[in-house]
Amino acid sequence: MSAARRLVVGNWKMHGSHPANAELLAGILGARPFGCDVAVCVPFPYLSETAVSLAASDLRWGAQDCSAHAQGAYTGEVSAAMLAEFGCRYAIVGHSERRALHGESDQGVADKAKAALGSGVTPIVCVGETREQREAGETAAVVKRQLSAVIHTLAHCVSEMVVAYEPVWAIGTGLSATPQQAQEVHELLRAQLQAASGHASRIRILYGGSVKPDNAAVLFSQPDIDGALVGGASLKAADFVAICRAAG
Ligand code: 13P
Repeated sequence: MSAARRLVVGNWKMHGSHPANAELLAGILGARPFGCDVAVCVPFPYLSETAVSLAASDLRWGAQDCSAHAQGAYTGEVSAAMLAEFGCRYAIVGHSERRALHGESDQGVADKAKAALGSGVTPIVCVGETREQREAGETAAVVKRQLSAVIHTLAHCVSEMVVAYEPVWAIGTGLSATPQQAQEVHELLRAQLQAASGHASRIRILYGGSVKPDNAAVLFSQPDIDGALVGGASLKAADFVAICRAAG
């Protein structure tokens, strides 16, 4: 069970353009105040303009990945220190799309989370099972294994991260986990975090996977769902705002 203020994060993925971003951010800004924390994780090239647009507000911004390395010959990578220079509060790490399409390992994700924290950027660590893993009854084992790597690597800093449970089968499919399915996994993750940190009620565990205005409130009513990581619905100001309102 969590006592933390809820957090809603938009993951824009590889979407956006100067005019579309300006319209979307204006729509979100104009709908404040929200009764929850709100952030957008944008593609790297848009961090600068997002920082300018949101600087005077209580909205936060972040990136969708960061390098595990501090600097060096890593073509195409972006370090956590660079994200910090652009005022990023958050960096998503270990999104299932990166695990699947870029071969990211549990330990690689943990190293990214550590690099983010080292630069003062809060990692949003994603975990989640595939449809095949759920059908094989492996959900608990998979998410525990994914989180365990991060817990061991972060050690005493565990309570400074955000965790996002994103069942792979629910991402972009319109097929959200039921509130009960999500709560069941969140409760497991909370217990694992409690054993590791001693104060898991302070760690926010977000749900992600086809969160929409019409299912947000019932998801947030679950005791261990502390907010949402929103993909598709974060690209429409009206939908994202409705989800933020449901969380507040
Ligand atoms: P959708 O909300 O589009 O299902 O995406 C979820 C997600 O992957 C957020 O990181």
